[in-house]
Amino acid sequence: MRAKLLSMVVGLCLLASPALATERAQADYMVHCQGCHLADGSGFPERGVPDMRSVLIPFAQIEEGRGYLIQVPGSSLSSLSDERLTVLINWILQELAQGSETAEPYSIDEVTHWRAIPLEDPGVARARLLEMISPGSND
Ligand code: HEC
Repeated sequence: MRAKLLSMVVGLCLLASPALATERAQADYMVHCQGCHLADGSGFPERGVPDMRSVLIPFAQIEEGRGYLIQVPGSSLSSLSDERLTVLINWILQELAQGSETAEPYSIDEVTHWRAIPLEDPGVARARLLEMISPGSND
């Protein structure tokens, strides 16, 4: 109970303090994601870790894509709390995404919602999303 309350308070503080949230998100990215995705999000496409930079914003602008970014195993199965994953994914959208467009930041409730819905096949989901954001140019 106390731990839960504490983590709620920490979560709220993180959302309330952009500087602290940014530092925590950057550290979480380094520890939990960067090994596969590299510091800039370019990944290892030849080894199945896609370059996420150009798709982040287009995916985050459509409902199914918002789900996918949270449902992929790297996000959903990480040891991060929903609060920290929320701050992290918003940091990723802000720092690693290419292009000048923006997307609505995630709320904790939205992350909790998508995280609870398993994604059957990330590869199939990604191909479908690519087709949705840019019909006919599926790679
Ligand atoms: C062990 C390697 C690994 C780690 C660690 C990892 N990922 Fe991933 N990630 C992948 C792979 C592989 C994919 C492609 C989808 C799939 O097969 O799961 C992916 C896909 C993604 C995508 C979709 C990118 C796209 O262009 O389609 C996002 C977003 C993502 N991961 C976020 C994260 C976050 C956030 C973390 C850290 C909390 C993380 N990943 C940690 C391997 C990893």
